[in-house]
Amino acid sequence: IKVIVAKNAGFCFGVERAISIAKESLGENGKVYTYGPIIHNPHVVNQLEKSGISVVNDLDNLKKGDTVIIRSHGITKYMYEEIESKEIKIIDATCPFVKKAYNAARELSHEGYSVVIFGDKFHPEVEGIISYIEGDYHIVSDINEALSLNCYNKIGYLAQTTQDRKLFQDIFEVLKNKCSKIKKVDTICNATFQRQNEAKDIAGKVDLMLIIGGRNSANTKRLYQICCKICEKTYFVESVEELKNIKFKKDYKVGISAGASTPNYLINEVLDYLNEVEYV
Ligand code: F3S
Repeated sequence: IKVIVAKNAGFCFGVERAISIAKESLGENGKVYTYGPIIHNPHVVNQLEKSGISVVNDLDNLKKGDTVIIRSHGITKYMYEEIESKEIKIIDATCPFVKKAYNAARELSHEGYSVVIFGDKFHPEVEGIISYIEGDYHIVSDINEALSLNCYNKIGYLAQTTQDRKLFQDIFEVLKNKCSKIKKVDTICNATFQRQNEAKDIAGKVDLMLIIGGRNSANTKRLYQICCKICEKTYFVESVEELKNIKFKKDYKVGISAGASTPNYLINEVLDYLNEVEYV
């Protein structure tokens, strides 16, 4: 069996940074929390919990003197204000690329553009982006939604950082015909783009593809969908246990990639399993 592991598998820069910021915060006075899980990976969240960093999902559960870590995809402007007003200490681990999207949204709306965001309206990052917009805004998740938009004088266009770059461009072509002036700010993060391209490339060369990551991680899911189209035997694997249901043949070439929130040790566990598995 031959195994190809993607070089861009696993933690992206923003997640790596958020986790190390969280670990550095351990010496803080008072209790330390992350607002929501720091990444969509239960293993990492449990490890942090053991070292004393708990997850809080409701700001009402925090009190004066506590410390809260803002995760890589950020929070809304209003949440910032609420936390500050409660005299809770903020450690901001928002990814700089996500900040770029927040800033682009704020500037476009200040310049009088109707802001169109290509993204998932339920994602916290998109909620964050919206909170910085002072004028009108519209969220589109595909071409059809872009086609059904009204026409506007000026459109300012940006994306949630983890969206597909090709679709970003296709939607741009649609929006061009919906306004007299358009300004596009490319806020898509390269980490996602490179991970997706490399996974696509590997999926085309192997018999079986494993995508490792948390089931609630949007970028892992997208990686899985992309590879499914290319390699029929693509599996979404959250932990090494799940590999037991997959049949590996001796002459298989196996490809591995992982979402931005998948720690290296999970990838290594999968590799160890493949070394020891009994082939059919
Ligand atoms: Fe940041 Fe890109 Fe990761 S936006 S959190 S480096 S996927």
